[in-house]
Amino acid sequence: MRTPEETFPTHFTFGVATSAYQVEGGIENDWAEWERAGKLKEPHARCGRAVDHWHRYEEDYALAKAVGATAFRISLEWARIEPERGRFDEAALEAYRERLLKMKAHGLRPVVTLHHFTHPSWFHRETPWHLPQSVPTFRRYAQRCAALLEGLDALVISFNEPMVLLLGGYLQGAIPPGIADGALTMRALENMVRSHAAARQELLAKLGRVELGISQNMLAFAPDRWWHPLDRALVRLASPAYNHAFHEALATGHLRVNMPGVASTRVTIPEARDSVEFIGVNYYSRAHLRFVPRPPFIEFKYRDTRGRGLTDIGWEDWPEGFLQTLRDVKRYGRPVWITENGIDDRAGARRPHYLHSHLAQVLAARAEGVDVQGYLYWSLLDNFEWLEGWGPRFGLYHVDFDTLERRPTPACDYFRAVATQRRLVAPGTL
Ligand code: FCB
Repeated sequence: MRTPEETFPTHFTFGVATSAYQVEGGIENDWAEWERAGKLKEPHARCGRAVDHWHRYEEDYALAKAVGATAFRISLEWARIEPERGRFDEAALEAYRERLLKMKAHGLRPVVTLHHFTHPSWFHRETPWHLPQSVPTFRRYAQRCAALLEGLDALVISFNEPMVLLLGGYLQGAIPPGIADGALTMRALENMVRSHAAARQELLAKLGRVELGISQNMLAFAPDRWWHPLDRALVRLASPAYNHAFHEALATGHLRVNMPGVASTRVTIPEARDSVEFIGVNYYSRAHLRFVPRPPFIEFKYRDTRGRGLTDIGWEDWPEGFLQTLRDVKRYGRPVWITENGIDDRAGARRPHYLHSHLAQVLAARAEGVDVQGYLYWSLLDNFEWLEGWGPRFGLYHVDFDTLERRPTPACDYFRAVATQRRLVAPGTL
């Protein structure tokens, strides 16, 4: 007989994750502008029609069902819904409502992200995150989104990876809006916390009750030189700031970031206290941190410490860090959802092993009492990977980017076996 730790309980959800800009196609927003400005790694890459999920959504729901998924994460594209400031596009809202209803009819629980990195182009010109007006702007958008969610029992995510957006967009200037300023980063962070709380009020007003959280990119950290006191100090500072500051603010109402010489803040936002029902974790890898004697004083590196080989995108395959990450969020006393986890594996052979090793950590965390309730694989389909463009392939299904044909990778069988048998099977034994 199996011990409970070896199995996923029947209420545990297996699902898949996507985001609007990366899969839908035909979206005009700040990222499209960024691409035209030649700012991607491959300056000529364009997202364009993406993988045409906008028209193929029913086929994609069926593909999700075929791997045993019972939840499907999408994001709503703000630029479709509010193409000009204050003008809402009823047809776009209607189209999203129809998609969500069909998703539900396919037996997939909607997991709906309001904001997944992208903005309507007017946003940065008129109410960027570092200005207080960003909060009522997001509130008004969230109010429209709330109306789409009635009767769906959706899991709702206000922001996807806010720290990634802030680090890339406000501190490093690498993604829109291309600002590189520590003080503005902290103001933007505060306004995003306030915006989450404002969105929550709108969701509650419309729906009565809501299951709301954020999706937080959480990295395992290690010192690049184990013996170097400054590398070690960086690790001690980075995890609270990068992994926990946002979660902490939404649990306690206290926002604290302490990265001396980079960005720091300490502010109380009472309306943010107790403002999530679940903790959303996006886990991919571990970063080694190295002190460098010039701003921003910190260098991120991915290292192949165990000879497993970096993933194709160049990240360390480090399932061990997943367990620690899950232990670390136990402190919030909320159910946990893995809102993303996955591997860029262009040949498709490593993915079943990646799934196996990472799901084993989920079971280990559950056995230690971490209430992990669901796992959403990133991603159902190969798609457009932000600055990296069309190179990476995270999909359970391979997509031919010319014909848009979707074909199962070996991980489809593996995912289906685990999701339906609700226990870990060893890859290669199917
Ligand atoms: C996460 C993003 C997601 C996808 C994966 C690979 O950081 O949330 O959109 O790009 O990485």
